[in-house]
Amino acid sequence: MELLSHSFEETLQWGKKVGKSLKPGDIIALKGDLGAGKTSITKGIAKSLGIEDEITSPTYTIVSEYEGSIPLYHMDMYRISGVEEFEMLGVDELLFGKGITLIEWSERILEYLPEDCKSISIQIMESGVRKIILEGISL
Ligand SMILES: Nc1ncnc2c1ncn2[C@@H]1O[C@H](COP(=O)(O)OP(=O)(O)OP(=O)(O)O)[C@@H](O)[C@H]1O
Ligand SMILES: [Mg+2]
Repeated sequence: MELLSHSFEETLQWGKKVGKSLKPGDIIALKGDLGAGKTSITKGIAKSLGIEDEITSPTYTIVSEYEGSIPLYHMDMYRISGVEEFEMLGVDELLFGKGITLIEWSERILEYLPEDCKSISIQIMESGVRKIILEGISL
């Protein structure tokens, strides 16, 4: 399924819709270049789970946990050295829990993703408009 977003606000709104369709245990790979809007759509998803905390980029923390109607784990693998670090930090265990896990730069831990992993890919088009492609997620 493909969506278009013309602004940060619109991406937030799509995130809220996506969030309503997610279930405990879901793992979603967030794909797209730097600044595409991966963290932005996460903010919308968090809102739909009743999370009031500000969602910040977890780049330096690897994972941020938020208490919502369903727990939300927001991961960013941009700076991880490899799967060894991922295991050492115990982050892998979160994937088997009953929270919703959103992973930026998930290519780094590919072997941990389920084969039929859900994904949200965001492409910046020439006009600056974002094309949002949902896989395994239906609104
Ligand atoms: N349609 C849009 N959707 C989302 N963000 C947009 C849009 N148009 C402009 N922006 C801007 O682009 C930036 C997106 O930043 P965001 O942190 O969400 O990207 P990211 O994909 O998480 O980047 P990174 O890979 O660095 O973590 C924000 O500054 C936002 O305001
Ligand atoms: Mg980000």
